[in-house]
Amino acid sequence: MSTKPLAIVILAAGFGTRMKSSQAKVMHTLAGKPMINWLLNSCESLNPEKIVVVIGPEMPDLEKAVKPHICVVQKVRDGTGGAVRTAMSALEGFGGDVLILLGDTPLITPATLSALRVAKDDHALAILGCIMDNPHGYGRLILGQDGMLENIIEEKDADPEQKAIQLVNTGAFCADGSQLCGWLNQIDSNNSQNEFYITQLPAIIREQGGVTAAAIIKNPAEVKGCNTRTDLAALEKTLQTRLREDLMNEGVFMQDPDTVYLWHDTKIAPDCIIEPNVYFGPGVTLESRVHIKAFSYLEGAHVKAEASVGPFARLRPDTQIGKGARIGNFVEIKKSIIGPGSKIGHLAYVGDCHMGEEVNFSAGAITVNYDGFQKHRTVIGKNVMVGSNVNLVAPVHIDDGAFVAAGSTITEDVPADALSIARDPAEIRQGWAAKYRKIKEAAQKKSRKRPKKAS
Ligand code: UD1
Ligand code: CA
Repeated sequence: MSTKPLAIVILAAGFGTRMKSSQAKVMHTLAGKPMINWLLNSCESLNPEKIVVVIGPEMPDLEKAVKPHICVVQKVRDGTGGAVRTAMSALEGFGGDVLILLGDTPLITPATLSALRVAKDDHALAILGCIMDNPHGYGRLILGQDGMLENIIEEKDADPEQKAIQLVNTGAFCADGSQLCGWLNQIDSNNSQNEFYITQLPAIIREQGGVTAAAIIKNPAEVKGCNTRTDLAALEKTLQTRLREDLMNEGVFMQDPDTVYLWHDTKIAPDCIIEPNVYFGPGVTLESRVHIKAFSYLEGAHVKAEASVGPFARLRPDTQIGKGARIGNFVEIKKSIIGPGSKIGHLAYVGDCHMGEEVNFSAGAITVNYDGFQKHRTVIGKNVMVGSNVNLVAPVHIDDGAFVAAGSTITEDVPADALSIARDPAEIRQGWAAKYRKIKEAAQKKSRKRPKKAS
């Protein structure tokens, strides 16, 4: 591979019209992270001297996402060639290799970028090609009699014969920085879109007797571009597969991986089991041997070793589940710490709560944490038993070892090892049900016997 210094230019100024969005195209997210940041991360791993991103005017979010790398603004979107020309202001005097990448092709891997640099070797320019089953929308690579790259023809400028070519331009170029400026000045806009295409470079070089090298990669998924929402969904699928495989290679078991959705920062330790249809939102960490059961939704949660969650559980941000705790079906937990070994088995809501170890929080019990204006905290000590259908009206403190009787609405603190019971005593009326039944049955018999009125 070239030992020359490396600079990277990323083109991201396009309108992204086909996305039909008010947001810059490269700010659309994949696994919760903007496309541009996926690409920047791959670029950073190559340790380039600089990364220059070409953005459009008034794209403050994009400018922020690109930091600390250099942003240059392409005032008039006159094509990919025009965009690279804009970037040259930040590359004055740079004579090394310049990788030119498209911001809307974010899943290209560092290994592929390195392969492109290897292909460039001593050539003036190398481009990355790929064979696509469906090449529609891509520039086609036209090879000469000698098998060398002669030209790139855009879909909109291609005749039917050229459209049948499946060898396409992925958009990734590696150019000799000392010659790039000279070529860029020769690009014209004689095409169907009246734009300056960067794809004119191979033809310009060929005319001057030069040769453009081509590296052909075999995995089309990583070089698929994103022009539409359908493309975005396809990229998401590719990325999710990659993230899941990474985790499985690290020892995580997913019973039906295709149904598990991961965030870019999901951390799952070895020997965790993830059942089907689980959604990981931002900021989830699972320690080893955690079991997440089907149809659970987790975000902002740290689940400690050997705990289990679900099926059908929801963990909301700022939640910590203690070692070996059991969170069952239809349980929602928000901004709470659940102690080790505690059990919240079914149909419960726990919000703004600090719960100690080995607590049993029964079916239908909830923390009443909101008074219509403010949130309040519930503190539950260790070894507490909260019965079914209990309302713990916060702020309230249930001390160690206390029992709260089923059906109670608790508005006052409960001391350690005490029983708190807050419900009306039952009234027993002997024989009432039998009498009631008799009256009702007699009334039914009577109404059935009544003759129908003549109509
Ligand atoms: C481009 C290539 C095509 C290739 C395909 C791969 C050209 C002319 N065509 O087509 O050969 O097969 O990518 O996905 O290069 N951009 C700017 N400024 C502009 C125009 C575009 O920065 O004035 C940026 C866009 O933000 C985008 C990238 O360049 O990130 C590609 O532009 P796009 O319009 O999507 O090109 P394609 O039609 O996909
Ligand atoms: Ca594109």
